[in-house]
Amino acid sequence: MTAEPLETTTKTRYDADTLAALTADATAIMERYPDPRSGLLPMLHLVQSVDGYVSRDGILFCAEMLGITAAEVSAVATFYTQYKRHPNGTYTVGVCTNTLCAVMGGDAIFDELSDHLGVGHDETTPDGAITLERVECNAACDYAPVVMVNWEFFDNQTPETATALADKLILGEDVVPTRGAASVCSFKQMSRVLAGFPDGRADEGVGAGEPTLAGLKIARERGWTAPDADTGSEPEGTAPSSTQPVGKPGSSAERKPATPSDTEVGKDKKPGEDAK
Ligand code: FES
Repeated sequence: MTAEPLETTTKTRYDADTLAALTADATAIMERYPDPRSGLLPMLHLVQSVDGYVSRDGILFCAEMLGITAAEVSAVATFYTQYKRHPNGTYTVGVCTNTLCAVMGGDAIFDELSDHLGVGHDETTPDGAITLERVECNAACDYAPVVMVNWEFFDNQTPETATALADKLILGEDVVPTRGAASVCSFKQMSRVLAGFPDGRADEGVGAGEPTLAGLKIARERGWTAPDADTGSEPEGTAPSSTQPVGKPGSSAERKPATPSDTEVGKDKKPGEDAK
């Protein structure tokens, strides 16, 4: 097998219009940072917004724009799971299988979807519609188990609702996230947003629903407030921490000494020296 000439292996193969648009967007990204090289992460999302994954051409493009090697770009692209090294589906369906979602049914949802779609983790359906993934906690544990479609929330899912959702995506039907934006965009559109080019949908819909706000509601009902963030001082009308009453019976403040470390703190200190 004959190796490709160096000229063709180190140049991107984008057509002139695509290259011009990519160059303009990448320049805008680089101008956001004191060191243009810091723009690599959004630039990789930009490449995904065009190619649907971090392609060979995308890697060469980033390297050329930033004056670094293709190996350095690859090292970053292979480190983060959000960067795909093979063509991604139109929709990434991410099933949260972290602890809380898993025990609430996330594992069962993933298994059902995997059987239904005939693909495993990080695999794409033959029609290119869905890439199925196990994903980490999405800070939506109060709605567990959660399924994300291109990072939009589908809360309180079951194997049945998740497979119905996947079927709609495959058929090209509209799906409506439980919270946030009113619709789900494509993987390429989402990648452009992650590259830092907003699509105007960020403030759509409700972000924090009732379960998320339950603690805030209780705190307001009981008049609880947090210490001042700047000074660390207690809010007006609250006794200083040093004079706050200790915990109720059964709290750690009332616990009887039970181990040597409970009584030997500062044992080797000189008289008058505080235990630290
Ligand atoms: S564990 Fe699933 S959102 Fe937190």
